[in-house]
Amino acid sequence: MNIVIKVGKERSEWWKEHMSSILPNYNIFLAHENYDKDKIDFAIVWKPKPGWLKTLSNLKCIVSMGSGIDHILSDPHLPKKVPIIRTTGYDLNVRMKEYVILHVLRHHRNLTKIIEINKKREWKSVIEPPMHERIIGIMGLGNLGADCAKTLAYLGFKVKGWSKSKKQLDGVTSFTGNEELEKFIKDVEILVCMLPLTSETEGILNSSLFSKMQKGLCLINAARGEHLVDEDLLEYIKNKTIKEATLDVFHIEPLPVDHAFWSNEKILITPHIASLIDPIAGGKEIAMNIKKFVKGEYVKNLIPLGKDY
Ligand code: NDP
Ligand code: OXD
Repeated sequence: MNIVIKVGKERSEWWKEHMSSILPNYNIFLAHENYDKDKIDFAIVWKPKPGWLKTLSNLKCIVSMGSGIDHILSDPHLPKKVPIIRTTGYDLNVRMKEYVILHVLRHHRNLTKIIEINKKREWKSVIEPPMHERIIGIMGLGNLGADCAKTLAYLGFKVKGWSKSKKQLDGVTSFTGNEELEKFIKDVEILVCMLPLTSETEGILNSSLFSKMQKGLCLINAARGEHLVDEDLLEYIKNKTIKEATLDVFHIEPLPVDHAFWSNEKILITPHIASLIDPIAGGKEIAMNIKKFVKGEYVKNLIPLGKDY
């Protein structure tokens, strides 16, 4: 069996070395190396160039080196019948929870204000309501969103969640579909976007949604840049509906140096690091899924054909 890995240069050798050690019976290549394209069985990819997957004529399966599959489905030349497996796992969930809890607490305790006061060497209390009075809204209650929602509820926050189908999660009030979006959003104070990027969710963080929210909301987008309409965020920060935002994902990554977000003091930018898949933890999941796929066993993360997340 032959596997090709298409990942950013930075960690490609690490991926190759590690995957070769845990899949010793497979020939493993990096995308830029020499190999027979017609003999590749598996492609493990992160943001493959449109058209490239089509050149692997006997591909059996595409493995997303991440939880989202939007970076694969966006290829207009994608071989439609080749199955896709996404990568999840314990470490990915833990890292996302760390990120979401860190920034929820930062917004909740108004750390921006505290730092501002600090810089002036002033001794002034910043008093915020306790967490049992703070309403957190999570858009997307899937593998990552549900885990974050349950953990925030366990910590003591009031948690509301929005998804396609109804959920039963401890301490989380579940809302579904566009019919309940307004009811979901109206009293949320810290909003976390944990949705997959699909044609239905693209641009969902826009002025129409922002106009239904209460003043002073904090936004955390750890999902995809394309969920957010950048200009609408800037406008709603300016009119103070949105107090501040934490953004991990952007339309263009790396975020261009001249983008208006960089100079907006109400926005904290992190470089798509909310939850990274590394070759050790991610590799183990990927190897397990490939082996199961080859044996014809059930693969939990195999995307049903035609589903877009
Ligand atoms: P899942 O596919 O497990 O869950 C997606 C959730 O979104 C589900 O609850 C689903 O509802 C809901 N959903 C999908 N479409 C809609 C819609 N139109 N309206 C309402 N709800 C909808 O995704 P994960 O939790 O694994 O990951 C979410 C996203 O997080 C990924 O797609 C990726 O973009 C991003 N991500 C970002 C990372 C980072 O480092 N910044 C790291 C990892 C992931 P239902 O349950 O009813 O199907
Ligand atoms: C993912 C990501 O989808 O890292 O896993 O964004």
